[in-house]
Amino acid sequence: MEIIHVSAECYPVAKAGGLGDVVGALPKYQTNMGHNAKVVMPMYRTKFLYQNEWSVDFKGRSNLGDWWFDFTIIKEKHNKLGFDLYLVDIHGLLDREKIYGYDDDASRFTAFQIAVVNWISKWQHKPDVIHCHDHHTGLIPFMMKHCWDYNYLADIPTVFTIHNGQYQGWMTWDKSVLIPRWDSWKRGMLEWAGNINPLASAVKCAWKVTTVSWSYLDELKYNSNGLEALFEYEKGKCSGILNGIDAEVWDPATDSYIDNHFSIEDVDKGKEANKKLLCDQFNLDSDKPLFIFIGRLVGEKAADVLPDAILSSFYSFGDKVNFLILGSGESHVEWQLSQLKHSFPGRYNAVIGYNEKLSHLMYSGADFLLMPSRVEPCGLNQMYAMQYGTVPVVRDTGGLRDTVVDMGDFQGWGIRFNYATVGDITYSIWRGIDLYHENKEHLSWMRKRMMEIDNSWENAVQQYLNLYSSLR
Ligand code: ADP
Ligand code: GLC
Repeated sequence: MEIIHVSAECYPVAKAGGLGDVVGALPKYQTNMGHNAKVVMPMYRTKFLYQNEWSVDFKGRSNLGDWWFDFTIIKEKHNKLGFDLYLVDIHGLLDREKIYGYDDDASRFTAFQIAVVNWISKWQHKPDVIHCHDHHTGLIPFMMKHCWDYNYLADIPTVFTIHNGQYQGWMTWDKSVLIPRWDSWKRGMLEWAGNINPLASAVKCAWKVTTVSWSYLDELKYNSNGLEALFEYEKGKCSGILNGIDAEVWDPATDSYIDNHFSIEDVDKGKEANKKLLCDQFNLDSDKPLFIFIGRLVGEKAADVLPDAILSSFYSFGDKVNFLILGSGESHVEWQLSQLKHSFPGRYNAVIGYNEKLSHLMYSGADFLLMPSRVEPCGLNQMYAMQYGTVPVVRDTGGLRDTVVDMGDFQGWGIRFNYATVGDITYSIWRGIDLYHENKEHLSWMRKRMMEIDNSWENAVQQYLNLYSSLR
Protein backbone atom coordinates (compact mmCIF):
# COMPACT_ATOMS: atom_id res chain seq x y z
CA MET A 1 0.00 0.00 0.00
CA GLU A 2 1.12 3.55 -0.61
CA ILE A 3 0.43 5.54 2.56
CA ILE A 4 0.97 9.30 2.80
CA HIS A 5 1.36 10.65 6.34
CA VAL A 6 0.83 14.37 6.65
CA SER A 7 2.07 15.92 9.89
CA ALA A 8 3.52 19.04 11.50
CA GLU A 9 6.17 16.98 13.35
CA CYS A 10 8.39 13.99 12.63
CA TYR A 11 11.37 12.91 14.74
CA PRO A 12 14.29 13.55 14.19
CA VAL A 13 13.45 16.29 11.68
CA ALA A 14 11.32 18.35 14.07
CA LYS A 15 9.75 17.28 17.35
CA ALA A 16 7.85 19.14 20.06
CA GLY A 17 6.36 16.07 21.74
CA GLY A 18 4.98 12.60 21.19
CA LEU A 19 3.43 13.40 17.80
CA GLY A 20 6.98 13.70 16.44
CA ASP A 21 7.97 10.35 17.90
CA VAL A 22 4.94 8.60 16.42
CA VAL A 23 5.28 10.06 12.93
CA GLY A 24 9.00 9.24 12.98
CA ALA A 25 8.32 5.60 13.82
CA LEU A 26 4.98 4.43 12.39
CA PRO A 27 5.97 4.93 8.70
CA LYS A 28 9.30 3.20 9.32
CA TYR A 29 7.58 0.10 10.66
CA GLN A 30 5.00 0.24 7.85
CA THR A 31 7.87 0.31 5.36
CA ASN A 32 9.58 -2.60 7.15
CA MET A 33 6.38 -4.57 6.70
CA GLY A 34 6.60 -4.12 2.93
CA HIS A 35 4.50 -0.99 2.39
CA ASN A 36 5.37 2.29 0.78
CA ALA A 37 4.94 4.86 3.53
CA LYS A 38 5.82 8.51 2.98
CA VAL A 39 5.84 11.49 5.29
CA VAL A 40 5.21 15.05 4.16
CA MET A 41 5.76 17.92 6.58
CA PRO A 42 6.73 21.60 6.58
CA MET A 43 10.33 22.55 5.86
CA TYR A 44 11.26 24.32 9.09
CA ARG A 45 14.81 25.53 9.42
CA THR A 46 16.01 22.75 11.73
CA LYS A 47 19.41 21.07 12.03
CA PHE A 48 18.19 18.00 10.17
CA LEU A 49 17.54 20.09 7.07
CA TYR A 50 21.10 21.38 6.89
CA GLN A 51 22.74 18.06 7.75
CA ASN A 52 21.15 16.02 4.96
CA GLU A 53 20.99 15.93 1.18
CA TRP A 54 17.85 16.75 -0.73
CA SER A 55 16.50 16.71 -4.27
CA VAL A 56 13.68 18.85 -5.60
CA ASP A 57 10.58 16.73 -6.15
CA PHE A 58 7.99 19.31 -7.14
CA LYS A 59 7.50 23.03 -7.63
CA GLY A 60 4.03 24.51 -7.51
CA ARG A 61 2.06 27.68 -7.12
CA SER A 62 -1.13 28.25 -5.22
CA ASN A 63 -2.99 30.90 -3.27
CA LEU A 64 -3.94 31.62 0.28
CA GLY A 65 -6.86 33.97 -0.22
CA ASP A 66 -5.55 36.69 -2.51
CA TRP A 67 -1.91 36.02 -1.66
CA TRP A 68 -0.25 33.86 -4.33
CA PHE A 69 2.69 31.79 -3.22
CA ASP A 70 5.26 29.49 -4.79
CA PHE A 71 6.15 26.31 -2.99
CA THR A 72 8.81 23.66 -3.39
CA ILE A 73 8.70 20.08 -2.20
CA ILE A 74 12.05 18.46 -1.55
CA LYS A 75 12.82 14.83 -0.86
CA GLU A 76 15.55 13.41 1.37
CA LYS A 77 17.98 11.58 -0.92
CA HIS A 78 19.28 8.61 1.05
CA ASN A 79 16.26 7.16 2.83
CA LYS A 80 17.85 8.10 6.14
CA LEU A 81 14.73 7.56 8.19
CA GLY A 82 13.66 4.30 6.60
CA PHE A 83 10.84 5.90 4.59
CA ASP A 84 10.44 8.63 1.97
CA LEU A 85 10.52 12.03 3.60
CA TYR A 86 9.21 15.16 1.84
CA LEU A 87 9.43 18.73 3.10
CA VAL A 88 7.27 21.58 1.88
CA ASP A 89 8.96 24.95 1.61
CA ILE A 90 6.88 28.13 1.54
CA HIS A 91 8.92 31.29 1.90
CA GLY A 92 7.64 33.70 4.48
CA LEU A 93 5.51 31.08 6.24
CA LEU A 94 7.32 27.82 6.90
CA ASP A 95 10.94 28.98 6.80
CA ARG A 96 11.18 29.43 10.56
CA GLU A 97 13.06 27.69 13.35
CA LYS A 98 10.17 26.73 15.57
CA ILE A 99 7.30 24.41 14.73
CA TYR A 100 4.47 26.29 16.46
CA GLY A 101 3.82 29.39 18.47
CA TYR A 102 3.65 32.12 15.81
CA ASP A 103 0.73 34.54 15.46
CA ASP A 104 0.16 33.41 11.89
CA ASP A 105 0.08 29.65 12.60
CA ALA A 106 -3.41 29.39 11.06
CA SER A 107 -2.12 30.79 7.76
CA ARG A 108 1.08 28.76 7.94
CA PHE A 109 -0.63 25.42 8.34
CA THR A 110 -3.47 26.23 5.94
CA ALA A 111 -0.91 27.06 3.24
CA PHE A 112 1.00 23.87 4.07
CA GLN A 113 -2.17 21.79 3.62
CA ILE A 114 -3.02 23.53 0.35
CA ALA A 115 0.47 22.79 -0.97
CA VAL A 116 0.11 19.11 -0.02
CA VAL A 117 -3.24 18.59 -1.77
CA ASN A 118 -2.06 20.59 -4.75
CA TRP A 119 1.03 18.36 -5.02
CA ILE A 120 -0.92 15.09 -4.73
CA SER A 121 -3.52 16.29 -7.25
CA LYS A 122 -0.71 16.55 -9.83
CA TRP A 123 0.39 12.90 -9.47
CA GLN A 124 -0.21 10.46 -12.31
CA HIS A 125 -1.65 7.94 -9.85
CA LYS A 126 -3.57 8.00 -6.59
CA PRO A 127 -2.10 6.78 -3.29
CA ASP A 128 -4.00 4.16 -1.29
CA VAL A 129 -4.57 6.30 1.76
CA ILE A 130 -3.84 9.77 3.11
CA HIS A 131 -3.22 9.64 6.86
CA CYS A 132 -3.44 13.04 8.59
CA HIS A 133 -2.28 13.75 12.14
CA ASP A 134 -3.83 16.35 14.47
CA HIS A 135 -5.53 19.63 13.67
CA HIS A 136 -2.66 21.13 11.63
CA THR A 137 -3.63 18.70 8.88
CA GLY A 138 -7.35 18.59 9.71
CA LEU A 139 -8.56 20.59 6.71
CA ILE A 140 -7.15 18.11 4.20
CA PRO A 141 -10.12 15.68 4.27
CA PHE A 142 -12.44 18.66 3.69
CA MET A 143 -10.30 20.02 0.85
CA MET A 144 -10.19 16.63 -0.84
CA LYS A 145 -13.98 16.35 -0.78
CA HIS A 146 -15.37 19.84 -1.04
CA CYS A 147 -12.83 22.18 -2.70
CA TRP A 148 -13.57 22.52 -6.41
CA ASP A 149 -9.92 22.32 -7.45
CA TYR A 150 -9.20 19.17 -5.48
CA ASN A 151 -12.35 17.06 -5.33
CA TYR A 152 -10.82 14.85 -7.98
CA LEU A 153 -9.07 13.35 -4.91
CA ALA A 154 -12.37 12.63 -3.14
CA ASP A 155 -12.18 8.89 -3.70
CA ILE A 156 -8.83 8.50 -1.90
CA PRO A 157 -9.49 7.17 1.62
CA THR A 158 -8.48 9.48 4.44
CA VAL A 159 -7.64 8.53 8.02
CA PHE A 160 -7.33 11.17 10.71
CA THR A 161 -5.50 10.40 13.95
CA ILE A 162 -6.14 12.50 17.03
CA HIS A 163 -3.04 12.75 19.18
CA ASN A 164 -4.39 15.68 21.10
CA GLY A 165 -8.00 16.81 20.98
CA GLN A 166 -7.48 19.78 23.29
CA TYR A 167 -5.97 21.85 20.50
CA GLN A 168 -8.34 22.20 17.57
CA GLY A 169 -6.90 24.96 15.36
CA TRP A 170 -9.97 27.24 15.71
CA MET A 171 -10.25 30.06 13.14
CA THR A 172 -12.81 32.82 12.84
CA TRP A 173 -14.98 32.85 9.72
CA ASP A 174 -13.09 35.71 8.10
CA LYS A 175 -10.30 33.14 7.57
CA SER A 176 -12.60 31.05 5.34
CA VAL A 177 -11.22 32.93 2.33
CA LEU A 178 -7.89 31.19 2.94
CA ILE A 179 -9.39 27.81 2.07
CA PRO A 180 -9.31 27.09 -1.68
CA ARG A 181 -12.67 27.71 -3.48
CA TRP A 182 -15.10 25.42 -1.70
CA ASP A 183 -18.71 24.31 -2.00
CA SER A 184 -20.58 26.78 0.19
CA TRP A 185 -23.33 24.22 0.86
CA LYS A 186 -20.72 22.35 2.86
CA ARG A 187 -20.12 25.12 5.37
CA GLY A 188 -21.33 22.82 8.15
CA MET A 189 -18.40 20.49 7.42
CA LEU A 190 -15.97 23.21 8.52
CA GLU A 191 -17.88 24.63 11.44
CA TRP A 192 -18.21 23.92 15.12
CA ALA A 193 -19.72 26.32 17.66
CA GLY A 194 -19.56 29.33 15.36
CA ASN A 195 -15.95 28.95 14.23
CA ILE A 196 -14.00 27.07 11.62
CA ASN A 197 -12.70 24.11 13.58
CA PRO A 198 -10.11 22.03 11.66
CA LEU A 199 -10.16 19.17 14.18
CA ALA A 200 -13.97 18.93 14.07
CA SER A 201 -13.88 19.22 10.29
CA ALA A 202 -11.50 16.27 10.07
CA VAL A 203 -13.72 14.18 12.36
CA LYS A 204 -16.65 14.95 10.06
CA CYS A 205 -14.89 14.53 6.71
CA ALA A 206 -12.23 11.82 7.19
CA TRP A 207 -13.26 8.29 6.26
CA LYS A 208 -12.00 6.94 9.57
CA VAL A 209 -10.83 8.59 12.77
CA THR A 210 -8.48 7.05 15.27
CA THR A 211 -7.23 8.09 18.69
CA VAL A 212 -4.00 6.91 20.26
CA SER A 213 -5.56 4.83 23.05
CA TRP A 214 -8.94 3.22 23.75
CA SER A 215 -9.60 4.97 27.01
CA TYR A 216 -8.94 8.38 25.46
CA LEU A 217 -11.51 7.64 22.77
CA ASP A 218 -14.08 6.99 25.51
CA GLU A 219 -13.08 10.16 27.33
CA LEU A 220 -13.52 12.34 24.25
CA LYS A 221 -17.26 11.70 24.44
CA TYR A 222 -17.47 13.55 27.73
CA ASN A 223 -14.33 15.69 27.80
CA SER A 224 -13.01 17.05 24.50
CA ASN A 225 -12.90 20.81 24.79
CA GLY A 226 -16.38 21.32 23.34
CA LEU A 227 -16.53 18.47 20.81
CA GLU A 228 -18.23 15.90 23.09
CA ALA A 229 -21.45 15.73 21.05
CA LEU A 230 -19.51 15.35 17.82
CA PHE A 231 -17.56 12.36 19.14
CA GLU A 232 -20.77 10.77 20.35
CA TYR A 233 -22.38 11.32 16.93
CA GLU A 234 -19.38 10.07 14.93
CA LYS A 235 -18.47 7.17 17.20
CA GLY A 236 -19.17 4.67 14.40
CA LYS A 237 -16.13 5.77 12.43
CA CYS A 238 -13.78 6.15 15.42
CA SER A 239 -11.44 3.56 16.92
CA GLY A 240 -8.51 3.51 19.33
CA ILE A 241 -5.06 2.21 18.35
CA LEU A 242 -2.47 2.38 21.08
CA ASN A 243 0.92 3.84 20.05
CA GLY A 244 4.03 1.75 20.10
CA ILE A 245 7.57 2.84 20.87
CA ASP A 246 10.51 2.85 18.52
CA ALA A 247 12.88 0.19 19.81
CA GLU A 248 15.66 1.47 17.56
CA VAL A 249 15.70 4.72 19.51
CA TRP A 250 14.44 3.57 22.93
CA ASP A 251 16.30 0.48 24.05
CA PRO A 252 18.52 0.59 27.17
CA ALA A 253 20.74 -2.12 25.68
CA THR A 254 21.73 0.00 22.67
CA ASP A 255 20.66 3.59 23.39
CA SER A 256 23.33 5.84 21.86
CA TYR A 257 22.58 8.63 24.34
CA ILE A 258 23.55 6.63 27.45
CA ASP A 259 26.92 5.26 28.59
CA ASN A 260 25.84 2.35 30.79
CA HIS A 261 23.77 -0.03 28.73
CA PHE A 262 21.62 -2.68 30.38
CA SER A 263 18.89 -5.21 29.75
CA ILE A 264 16.46 -7.22 31.89
CA GLU A 265 19.16 -9.41 33.45
CA ASP A 266 21.29 -6.55 34.75
CA VAL A 267 18.69 -3.82 35.11
CA ASP A 268 19.44 -3.07 38.77
CA LYS A 269 23.15 -2.70 38.11
CA GLY A 270 22.66 -0.67 34.93
CA LYS A 271 20.21 1.70 36.51
CA GLU A 272 22.45 2.19 39.52
CA ALA A 273 25.35 3.28 37.30
CA ASN A 274 23.19 5.69 35.32
CA LYS A 275 21.60 7.04 38.48
CA LYS A 276 25.03 7.74 39.92
CA LEU A 277 25.98 9.76 36.84
CA LEU A 278 22.73 11.65 36.94
CA CYS A 279 22.94 12.38 40.66
CA ASP A 280 26.55 13.53 40.40
CA GLN A 281 25.65 15.82 37.55
CA PHE A 282 22.67 17.35 39.35
CA ASN A 283 23.91 17.31 42.94
CA LEU A 284 21.43 14.68 44.16
CA ASP A 285 21.81 11.74 46.52
CA SER A 286 21.94 8.43 44.70
CA ASP A 287 21.09 6.44 47.85
CA LYS A 288 17.60 7.89 47.87
CA PRO A 289 14.77 7.20 45.46
CA LEU A 290 14.87 9.46 42.42
CA PHE A 291 11.55 10.73 41.04
CA ILE A 292 11.64 12.49 37.69
CA PHE A 293 9.22 14.42 35.52
CA ILE A 294 9.88 14.99 31.81
CA GLY A 295 7.50 16.93 29.64
CA ARG A 296 5.66 20.02 28.62
CA LEU A 297 4.94 22.23 31.63
CA VAL A 298 1.28 22.79 30.81
CA GLY A 299 -2.13 22.25 32.41
CA GLU A 300 -2.82 19.02 30.51
CA LYS A 301 0.22 17.47 32.16
CA ALA A 302 -0.83 18.93 35.55
CA ALA A 303 2.62 20.49 35.76
CA ASP A 304 1.10 23.35 37.79
CA VAL A 305 0.46 20.93 40.70
CA LEU A 306 4.04 19.68 40.75
CA PRO A 307 5.65 22.48 42.79
CA ASP A 308 3.16 22.04 45.65
CA ALA A 309 3.29 18.25 45.45
CA ILE A 310 7.08 18.37 45.67
CA LEU A 311 6.96 20.80 48.59
CA SER A 312 4.40 18.64 50.35
CA SER A 313 6.63 15.56 49.84
CA PHE A 314 9.65 17.32 51.33
CA TYR A 315 7.60 18.47 54.32
CA SER A 316 6.06 15.01 54.81
CA PHE A 317 9.01 12.74 54.05
CA GLY A 318 11.99 14.96 54.81
CA ASP A 319 15.14 14.03 52.97
CA LYS A 320 14.00 10.54 52.01
CA VAL A 321 13.51 11.50 48.37
CA ASN A 322 15.10 13.28 45.36
CA PHE A 323 13.42 15.00 42.42
CA LEU A 324 14.74 15.97 39.01
CA ILE A 325 12.56 17.88 36.53
CA LEU A 326 13.10 18.43 32.80
CA GLY A 327 10.62 20.51 30.87
CA SER A 328 9.50 23.78 29.43
CA GLY A 329 6.16 25.47 29.01
CA GLU A 330 4.12 27.97 30.97
CA SER A 331 6.40 30.61 32.43
CA HIS A 332 4.92 30.72 35.95
CA VAL A 333 5.37 26.94 36.30
CA GLU A 334 8.91 27.19 34.92
CA TRP A 335 9.62 29.91 37.47
CA GLN A 336 8.19 27.98 40.44
CA LEU A 337 10.05 24.81 39.50
CA SER A 338 13.30 26.76 39.15
CA GLN A 339 12.84 28.50 42.49
CA LEU A 340 12.61 25.18 44.35
CA LYS A 341 16.27 24.58 43.47
CA HIS A 342 17.28 27.24 45.96
CA SER A 343 15.16 25.82 48.77
CA PHE A 344 16.18 22.17 48.44
CA PRO A 345 19.74 21.89 47.11
CA GLY A 346 21.06 18.33 47.22
CA ARG A 347 17.62 16.77 46.84
CA TYR A 348 15.93 18.73 44.08
CA ASN A 349 17.01 20.00 40.69
CA ALA A 350 15.34 21.18 37.51
CA VAL A 351 16.40 21.82 33.94
CA ILE A 352 14.11 24.21 32.14
CA GLY A 353 14.35 23.58 28.41
CA TYR A 354 14.30 20.76 25.92
CA ASN A 355 17.10 18.19 26.03
CA GLU A 356 16.72 14.90 24.17
CA LYS A 357 19.99 13.38 25.45
CA LEU A 358 19.28 14.23 29.07
CA SER A 359 15.79 12.73 28.79
CA HIS A 360 17.33 9.36 27.85
CA LEU A 361 19.74 9.48 30.77
CA MET A 362 16.85 10.34 33.09
CA TYR A 363 14.66 7.44 31.92
CA SER A 364 17.62 5.12 32.38
CA GLY A 365 18.79 6.38 35.77
CA ALA A 366 15.59 7.27 37.63
CA ASP A 367 13.61 5.02 39.95
CA PHE A 368 10.20 6.60 39.37
CA LEU A 369 8.59 8.73 36.64
CA LEU A 370 5.79 11.10 37.64
CA MET A 371 2.92 11.67 35.18
CA PRO A 372 -0.04 13.29 36.93
CA SER A 373 -1.60 14.30 33.56
CA ARG A 374 -5.12 15.69 33.55
CA VAL A 375 -5.41 14.58 29.93
CA GLU A 376 -3.16 11.98 28.32
CA PRO A 377 -4.28 10.68 24.91
CA CYS A 378 -1.58 8.00 24.96
CA GLY A 379 1.58 9.16 26.65
CA LEU A 380 4.93 7.86 25.51
CA ASN A 381 6.95 8.83 28.56
CA GLN A 382 5.47 6.08 30.70
CA MET A 383 6.21 3.54 27.96
CA TYR A 384 9.81 4.73 27.65
CA ALA A 385 10.10 4.61 31.44
CA MET A 386 8.82 1.03 31.47
CA GLN A 387 11.28 0.03 28.75
CA TYR A 388 14.07 1.37 31.02
CA GLY A 389 12.76 -0.25 34.21
CA THR A 390 11.56 3.02 35.75
CA VAL A 391 8.33 2.71 37.73
CA PRO A 392 5.59 4.89 36.22
CA VAL A 393 3.57 6.89 38.78
CA VAL A 394 0.56 7.98 36.77
CA ARG A 395 -2.93 9.37 37.00
CA ASP A 396 -5.64 6.95 35.98
CA THR A 397 -6.57 8.48 32.63
CA GLY A 398 -6.40 7.92 28.84
CA GLY A 399 -3.41 5.99 27.61
CA LEU A 400 -1.94 5.88 31.12
CA ARG A 401 -4.88 3.73 32.19
CA ASP A 402 -4.36 1.46 29.17
CA THR A 403 -0.65 0.90 29.73
CA VAL A 404 0.04 0.89 33.48
CA VAL A 405 -1.20 -1.64 36.06
CA ASP A 406 -0.95 -0.64 39.71
CA MET A 407 1.45 -2.65 41.88
CA GLY A 408 -1.47 -3.45 44.19
CA ASP A 409 -3.19 -5.35 41.38
CA PHE A 410 -2.27 -8.80 40.13
CA GLN A 411 1.23 -8.75 38.63
CA GLY A 412 1.19 -4.93 38.57
CA TRP A 413 4.34 -2.85 38.14
CA GLY A 414 3.25 0.77 38.43
CA ILE A 415 1.60 3.27 40.76
CA ARG A 416 -1.75 4.70 39.73
CA PHE A 417 -3.84 7.41 41.38
CA ASN A 418 -7.18 9.06 40.69
CA TYR A 419 -6.78 12.81 40.88
CA ALA A 420 -4.19 15.38 39.85
CA THR A 421 -4.15 16.81 43.38
CA VAL A 422 -1.35 17.45 45.83
CA GLY A 423 -2.85 14.82 48.17
CA ASP A 424 -3.02 12.01 45.60
CA ILE A 425 0.41 12.77 44.17
CA THR A 426 2.05 12.99 47.59
CA TYR A 427 0.48 9.72 48.69
CA SER A 428 1.69 8.02 45.48
CA ILE A 429 5.19 9.37 46.06
CA TRP A 430 5.00 7.86 49.55
CA ARG A 431 4.10 4.47 48.07
CA GLY A 432 7.17 4.75 45.87
CA ILE A 433 9.48 5.78 48.72
CA ASP A 434 8.18 2.93 50.86
CA LEU A 435 8.73 0.41 48.06
CA TYR A 436 12.25 1.70 47.47
CA HIS A 437 13.33 1.60 51.10
CA GLU A 438 11.35 -1.35 52.42
CA ASN A 439 10.96 -3.75 49.52
CA LYS A 440 13.92 -3.53 47.13
CA GLU A 441 13.34 -7.08 45.95
CA HIS A 442 9.85 -6.35 44.80
CA LEU A 443 11.07 -3.18 43.10
CA SER A 444 13.60 -5.27 41.22
CA TRP A 445 10.87 -7.74 40.22
CA MET A 446 8.67 -4.86 39.02
CA ARG A 447 11.49 -3.48 36.88
CA LYS A 448 11.94 -6.80 35.17
CA ARG A 449 8.22 -7.30 34.80
CA MET A 450 7.69 -3.98 33.03
CA MET A 451 10.69 -4.46 30.76
CA GLU A 452 9.16 -7.69 29.49
CA ILE A 453 6.09 -5.89 28.17
CA ASP A 454 5.95 -5.68 24.41
CA ASN A 455 5.18 -2.08 23.45
CA SER A 456 6.66 -2.44 19.98
CA TRP A 457 5.08 -0.87 16.93
CA GLU A 458 4.37 -4.08 15.02
CA ASN A 459 1.03 -4.63 16.69
CA ALA A 460 -0.20 -1.08 16.10
CA VAL A 461 1.05 -1.11 12.51
CA GLN A 462 -1.03 -4.19 11.79
CA GLN A 463 -4.12 -2.48 13.19
CA TYR A 464 -3.56 0.56 10.98
CA LEU A 465 -3.06 -1.67 7.95
CA ASN A 466 -6.31 -3.49 8.69
CA LEU A 467 -8.07 -0.15 8.97
CA TYR A 468 -6.66 1.09 5.64
CA SER A 469 -7.59 -2.19 3.96
CA SER A 470 -11.17 -1.88 5.16
CA LEU A 471 -11.43 1.36 3.15
CA ARG A 472 -10.28 0.09 -0.24
P1 ADP B 1 3.16 14.97 24.59
O1 ADP B 1 3.28 14.62 23.16
O2 ADP B 1 1.77 15.26 25.01
O3 ADP B 1 4.10 16.05 25.00
P2 ADP B 1 4.15 12.26 25.09
O4 ADP B 1 4.30 11.51 26.37
O5 ADP B 1 3.41 11.57 24.03
O6 ADP B 1 3.55 13.68 25.45
O7 ADP B 1 5.58 12.52 24.45
C1 ADP B 1 6.48 13.43 24.94
C2 ADP B 1 7.79 13.23 24.23
O8 ADP B 1 8.54 14.44 24.29
C3 ADP B 1 8.67 12.16 24.84
O9 ADP B 1 9.54 11.66 23.83
C4 ADP B 1 9.46 12.96 25.88
O10 ADP B 1 10.65 12.32 26.24
C5 ADP B 1 9.71 14.22 25.08
N1 ADP B 1 9.93 15.45 25.86
C6 ADP B 1 8.98 16.26 26.39
N2 ADP B 1 9.55 17.33 26.98
C7 ADP B 1 10.88 17.17 26.85
C8 ADP B 1 12.02 17.95 27.24
N3 ADP B 1 11.87 19.08 27.92
N4 ADP B 1 13.23 17.48 26.90
C9 ADP B 1 13.38 16.33 26.22
N5 ADP B 1 12.36 15.56 25.81
C10 ADP B 1 11.13 15.97 26.12
C1 GLC C 1 0.03 13.86 21.99
C2 GLC C 1 -0.49 13.39 23.33
C3 GLC C 1 0.25 12.25 23.92
C4 GLC C 1 0.55 11.20 22.87
C5 GLC C 1 1.24 11.82 21.68
C6 GLC C 1 1.55 10.82 20.58
O1 GLC C 1 1.01 14.81 22.06
O2 GLC C 1 -0.57 14.47 24.26
O3 GLC C 1 -0.48 11.68 24.98
O4 GLC C 1 1.36 10.19 23.41
O5 GLC C 1 0.44 12.81 21.12
O6 GLC C 1 0.41 10.20 20.07
